[in-house]
Amino acid sequence: MENIVAWQDAYSLEMPEIDAQHKVLLDLINQVWNAVVGRVSIEKQIELIEKLEHYTLSHFAAEETFLRTIQYPEFDEHKKAHEIFVQRIAAEKANLLANGHLTLDMLHFLKDWLINHILGTDKKYAQFSQGKTSSSSFVGRFFSALLGKR
Ligand SMILES: [Fe+2]
Repeated sequence: MENIVAWQDAYSLEMPEIDAQHKVLLDLINQVWNAVVGRVSIEKQIELIEKLEHYTLSHFAAEETFLRTIQYPEFDEHKKAHEIFVQRIAAEKANLLANGHLTLDMLHFLKDWLINHILGTDKKYAQFSQGKTSSSSFVGRFFSALLGKR
């Protein structure tokens, strides 16, 4: 079976903890994709999309906590973007429950959205936080430890 998306080094934010979470998200999208392409049972598809939904919520919550901590100036816009993605997953889950299938279109949307979000919106906060944490100050070391930066 072929996956819909693969991790690339260009997606890295140079923050190992966040990169690891993004990799899990891509993996979960691949799992849902393979479930749809492989026509597995609806129960299994529901289980997988719920896994994606839950992980997305916890990842976004972690990111938003971090953005608050660094007093990110574009916090509100970033949070809004997260909400749109979460709503789309919820809508697709509702569609699956009502009509018994997920669409490949929807998976393309999720994949494209996530990659664009990482490359655009997330890279912006990564750059901002680098400015805040690059110093050898105590705060800098604290954030580095928090994010698992080397
Ligand atoms: Fe984000």
